[in-house]
Amino acid sequence: MNLISPNFPEIGKPNIEIKKFPDDDSYVRISDISELQGEEVKLFHRLYPDQDSNIFKAILMLDVLKRVGARTTFVVPYLPYSRQDKTFKEGEALSAQVLCKLFAGAQLITLDCHFLKKEGEFEYNGLKIKNISANKLLIEHAKTKLKTKDIEIISPDQGANYLVSDFGGKSMKKVRGEYDKSGEAHRTIEKMEREFDVKGKNVLIIDDMISTGGTMIRAVENVKKGGAKKVLCAATHGFFLKDSLEKLQKITDGVFTTNSIPNPAAEVDIAELLLH
Ligand code: R5P
Repeated sequence: MNLISPNFPEIGKPNIEIKKFPDDDSYVRISDISELQGEEVKLFHRLYPDQDSNIFKAILMLDVLKRVGARTTFVVPYLPYSRQDKTFKEGEALSAQVLCKLFAGAQLITLDCHFLKKEGEFEYNGLKIKNISANKLLIEHAKTKLKTKDIEIISPDQGANYLVSDFGGKSMKKVRGEYDKSGEAHRTIEKMEREFDVKGKNVLIIDDMISTGGTMIRAVENVKKGGAKKVLCAATHGFFLKDSLEKLQKITDGVFTTNSIPNPAAEVDIAELLLH
């Protein structure tokens, strides 16, 4: 299998050239393209950060491969725009659908894709997606960190229930409100509800992503109020916007994610999940 990437050191040195034209347009060149004619190729490309520009570079790379008849699998550790698969207000863009249509025709492998909400193979707006979950790796890591198997595994909302359900886990309920007043497209959390007991238990709260940290902070506060003993929190994708990592580190016994998005709490390596 031919592995190529501009930015995935886990598979070796970058072998796709990316530069800028003087006017800031992107330049993409796959130098060994003659060897990839009609071949099976895995293209690894981190689309975050700088997602809008990286998505366009991906379209260019996929087109170069298509022109030589390569059979490409596109490996994207984190798929941006995956939270915008539904509209909340009239007139909003369905960004997840648009993005998938842009990549339609390719095969995509990704981790804990937000709108799929389960592991497996899917077709979404013309794009074939294999969605792999990092839940097992995260849960094993938590057991090693706390040196015990006796951990209550919880997701902070129903959407992430698939991450915990195979492990006897339970889910809290998150109720979102209106867009907040910050000017960003971000909805407030009205309340977090929990219908099970955590008193005296070691707890791992696991989600597909930690972005502003709002969800995780509210979930941690909830279980601590409920008398949880040790509290870890984990996610597949860690953005840790603003000071959310420091805030979470202060109120928990540990915070960690995979390295799907490189960040200071990335303790779990995803290379094995994506290479096989
Ligand atoms: C939403 O349903 C997701 O699963 C996450 O819970 C959410 O996107 C995390 O975002 P934040 O860290 O901003 O609360």
